Amino acid sequence: MTVIASKPPMVTTPEGEELPVQEGHPVERRMVRFDWSNTPLHWVPDDPFSTHVINVLHLLLPAGERWFLDVVNKAQPLVDDEELRATIKPFVQQESWHAWAHTVVLQHLAENGIDTTAYTAMLDKWFGRILSDHPSWPPRMQRWWLNRRLAVVAAIEHFTCVMGKWILENEGLERAGADPVMLDLLRWHGAEEVEHRSLVWDVHANVSGSHTQRVTGMLEVVCTLTLWWVAGIRYLMRHDPTLHRAKPRLRDWARAVRQDRLPGPGTLYGSVPRYLRRSHHPRQEASTENALAYLERSPAARAARASQSASDAVASGG
Ligand SMILES: [Fe+2]
Ligand SMILES: [Fe+2]
Repeated sequence: MTVIASKPPMVTTPEGEELPVQEGHPVERRMVRFDWSNTPLHWVPDDPFSTHVINVLHLLLPAGERWFLDVVNKAQPLVDDEELRATIKPFVQQESWHAWAHTVVLQHLAENGIDTTAYTAMLDKWFGRILSDHPSWPPRMQRWWLNRRLAVVAAIEHFTCVMGKWILENEGLERAGADPVMLDLLRWHGAEEVEHRSLVWDVHANVSGSHTQRVTGMLEVVCTLTLWWVAGIRYLMRHDPTLHRAKPRLRDWARAVRQDRLPGPGTLYGSVPRYLRRSHHPRQEASTENALAYLERSPAARAARASQSASDAVASGG
């Protein structure tokens, strides 16, 4: 078992037992907040394409992450590893805070003339009808369906980790003069994705462990995520009142990758073969230390810590 650093963080089980947190599992929720009042619509200056490619995250993540935590919560009673079962709670807390933080950005987009409700309603329908529970199915099929969905969430968590690592190491967006508040949101979220990168994989391994499900889950995610992402970019560009219905082009992506403003196909699709290896484990994908180092200096995470300490002091009468 790999344990973080010399003084490992601990998690308390519902029975009150203290256990060291394994690498790739989360420790706590950080209740960060962002002020969007000074963020321009094109927060990568003069680059609406890169802006909207990344903005698709705000469309996908609120519904997506609520679905993740619903699936993982359903699997929790089946997990027979105490530490893993206990770290599901901070995972659920982190993902629900992420979902909320991205929902606030959608309000900011609406204030700037981009109404995203048609897209998010379609996405909600997809999650609600296709990926939801099927209580009329026989119990064995319901269990299989839960395992299949866990494999899909684990595959998506692979990409959130890959993108998290990319944004933590990226310098191109700063060089482009990107809005610091949006960069902080993306890096805070990316850092927590790196921090909890193994959680869903380990839950799936604990309750199912099927390599076939991992492979099919990943292939489904590559196809559906690509389709939803392209649809999201087209939607945002079509509804951006300043762009006069401009369409995204592949050569815009090539240019943005050259400028280090977006991850390229090698970073995203190139990570799939290693995920499909039997020997793969998400802890190999990124460094918890780098993620925690960013969370130490993130302006929003620092403000959240200060406000938490202030309310703790009030609660203890200090
Ligand atoms: Fe997240
Ligand atoms: Fe996540």
